[in-house]
Amino acid sequence: MKTPEDWFPPDAPRLAHIQQVMRTARIVEARQEFGGRLVIAAAYHDIGYAEAFAVTGFHPVDGAVLARADGCDAGVVDAVLHHSGARGLCLRMRPDLAGRYGPTCRMMDTALSRALTFCDNRSGPNGEALTLAERIADIRWRHAGNPALLETTADYLPLFERIDAEFARLLS
Ligand SMILES: [Fe+2]
Repeated sequence: MKTPEDWFPPDAPRLAHIQQVMRTARIVEARQEFGGRLVIAAAYHDIGYAEAFAVTGFHPVDGAVLARADGCDAGVVDAVLHHSGARGLCLRMRPDLAGRYGPTCRMMDTALSRALTFCDNRSGPNGEALTLAERIADIRWRHAGNPALLETTADYLPLFERIDAEFARLLS
C-alpha cells in the first residue's frame, strides 16, 4: 500500500485532505466492518494527483490504476475509480477516458464505494472536517469557473445526500 506522505510535500493541502479522508475512514471502520479496505481506498482516492502517478491526468483513473498495480482488490479499485461522481466528471471533461468506466456509474454499487465518497465529501481541501452542505458550498465557490465540475456536482447531489444519510450516524 502506498503511503500518501511519501508522495506529496508535507505542507501540501492535498495531503492534508487525504489524511482527513483517512481519519474519517478509520472512524467509519471502527463502527462498520470493511476489513481495513476503506482506509486503503481513502489512501488511494486522490493519490493520482501526485506528480509521480499522474499518467492520464485524471486522478481517479490514475489512482485506480495504481491501486490495481499495488494489488488492491477489485472493490477498492472500483471505489477509487468511481469516487465522488468521477464517472460523470470523466464523461464531461475527459471523454477520451470514458472507456475506463463502462456503461454505468458504480459509485452506489457497494457499501465500500459509498463509504469512500462519504469520507471524501466530509473532508475539505485543506483537511478540514466538513458537513456535506459545507463541502458542496466549498466546491461551488472554489470551482466557480469550472462548469463541468459544477454540473457534475449538481447531478450527483441527490446521491451524495443519500450516501450522507447512510453513514452520518457513524460520526456521532
Ligand atoms: Fe478527495
